[in-house]
Amino acid sequence: MNIAVYPGTFDPCTNGHLSIIRRTAAVFDRVYVAILNNSGKNPLFTLEERIDYLKRITADIPNVEVECFSGLLIDYVHQKNAQVIIRGLRAVSDFEYEFQMALTNRKLAPDVETLFMATEARYSYLSSSIVKEVAALGGCLDDLVPECIRADIEEKINKMGEL
Ligand code: COA
Repeated sequence: MNIAVYPGTFDPCTNGHLSIIRRTAAVFDRVYVAILNNSGKNPLFTLEERIDYLKRITADIPNVEVECFSGLLIDYVHQKNAQVIIRGLRAVSDFEYEFQMALTNRKLAPDVETLFMATEARYSYLSSSIVKEVAALGGCLDDLVPECIRADIEEKINKMGEL
């Protein structure tokens, strides 16, 4: 069985992430979307919220499972018997960080390959930070995040603004 892991912070997940998940699921038998639990990024959305959002947006993709992990990514990848880590590349600016991560993972686990998937052009500008900024400033999240989680993201960010 060909198994891929698509890791990230997903704070929050966007249409760009969903596009990569769908395209990965079309190529691999099983895809684990793996949310990092101990990110130094200090996420705005709780782990439970990020899991819930990803589960809802992938509910119609039968070979996708959403989980969280802590510690080294390659330990999780081995635990899942996966052969491949998937990462999306949006622009040249992503390359240096992604290349460093891929080489580190390769050093730690030569049996695991990192494959880069080019993001769809229409999402190449999109990031989790952009989503948070647009929502915080009252902008419209149409086309930025999947419809079924849009209201929840807006509500959470509006509440944060009231604190
Ligand atoms: N569409 C939209 N946005 C995308 C995207 C796409 N296709 N691909 C990346 N992004 C954006 C995200 O929106 C996010 O934006 P932000 O910077 O504004 O928040 C950014 O790119 C990256 O976030 P994300 O995709 O959630 O992943 P990440 O870079 O936070 O994930 C891990 C990093 C979890 C893979 C990495 O930290 C890890 O493996 N940690 C475990 C520890 C470990 O093993 N370390 C050793 C290896 S380095």
